[in-house]
Amino acid sequence: MGNKMHVLPVEAYTSKQWFDLEMRTLFSTTWQFAGLVEDIQEPGDYISVQAGLNNIFIVKGRDYRLRAFHNMCRHRGTQLLRAVGKGQKAITCPYHDWTYSLEGELLSVPKKEREFPDLCEGKLKDCGLNLHEASVDIFKGMLFVHPDKDAPNIMDFFGEVAPCLGPHKVEELVEYREKGPEPFYTKEIKANWKIVVENYIDHYHLAHLHAGTLNMYDHEKAEFGWKGPHYWFYEPLIPDYLADVDNAAQFPLIESVPRERIGAYVPWLFPNIGITEGEAQWNTFHAIPLAADRTLVVIRTKVANKSEWEFTKQYAKSSANKLWQRYGGQGKYEGDSNDPMASGDFMAEDVFACEQQQKSLYSPRFSVGARAVRGEYAIVRFQEEVKKWMVAHGAEI
Ligand SMILES: [Fe+2]
Repeated sequence: MGNKMHVLPVEAYTSKQWFDLEMRTLFSTTWQFAGLVEDIQEPGDYISVQAGLNNIFIVKGRDYRLRAFHNMCRHRGTQLLRAVGKGQKAITCPYHDWTYSLEGELLSVPKKEREFPDLCEGKLKDCGLNLHEASVDIFKGMLFVHPDKDAPNIMDFFGEVAPCLGPHKVEELVEYREKGPEPFYTKEIKANWKIVVENYIDHYHLAHLHAGTLNMYDHEKAEFGWKGPHYWFYEPLIPDYLADVDNAAQFPLIESVPRERIGAYVPWLFPNIGITEGEAQWNTFHAIPLAADRTLVVIRTKVANKSEWEFTKQYAKSSANKLWQRYGGQGKYEGDSNDPMASGDFMAEDVFACEQQQKSLYSPRFSVGARAVRGEYAIVRFQEEVKKWMVAHGAEI
């Protein structure tokens, strides 16, 4: 094997074979983030999500229970439902009108006499062509799906890391959107999904790449570690920023976070969903692998349930605040604000760093020259977890 990114070979970040292997042995064998609990409110509401090789939809039944099924008609395998929808009474495949109940039972098949001699009228649900079941569960206000109907319990998977997450009461927060129903932030990044994860869990870069954008946090005092395959991270605000946080924060503070626990909780839940829990925002950071060198990042943001006026007032206060200007509102370099390094926007800084790293992976001269024992320890551990999981699910790597 040629060059390595610590534990994994460079091909793990560039080749289609690796990407396909991950789809089969990682993303088809783990709990996958599907949305927020409030996305599905009424019976017949549904959302669909790609989980590795599987497209799965979650639907609320007439009994208000959530169920998950593979989004595939049992007749010819056609995908049944589009991305999101409301108030379905039943699920009908558009191709030949095979119809299923919200509980996944085959209800009706349009047929002329003797066209399907094996499908007996009246007993359709017993003929073995009900929808394939998947699993759905909730963790901290987030919906997760698993392609197996007998998936391991979600609290067995996430339970160990739960005490290391922020004290935020997610159910009291409301989603923050700027442009209609779209999520707060969606961006296709020209980098492998693991580059995006490794950037997210890289403590070393915070004080450097984000010297002008995230310096209200005390990186020296960061605490982090692992619980099973999941990463947890916490760092406090620096003392002078904390003392004036009521004025410096860009949004109204989240009240369920007690003053002594204010800071940034930035866990990464295996394999591909981060949560960013701060003093005034709570975000899901979903890294969706599209190809070996393409990742879609979707961020959904929740904030305190306050009036628009409160938000406007807080934003004005913050923008005029000296501490915000000094620690959070500056680009790394001087220049045009279209330049990510001059934008003063930490997401633009991260996207730039990820894309620049991906470019170098194809060079015959590429190598990782050294690794920071503390600041980059998480990256190595993450790669070990990916490798371990894939091998345990049949990958020969
Ligand atoms: Fe970053």
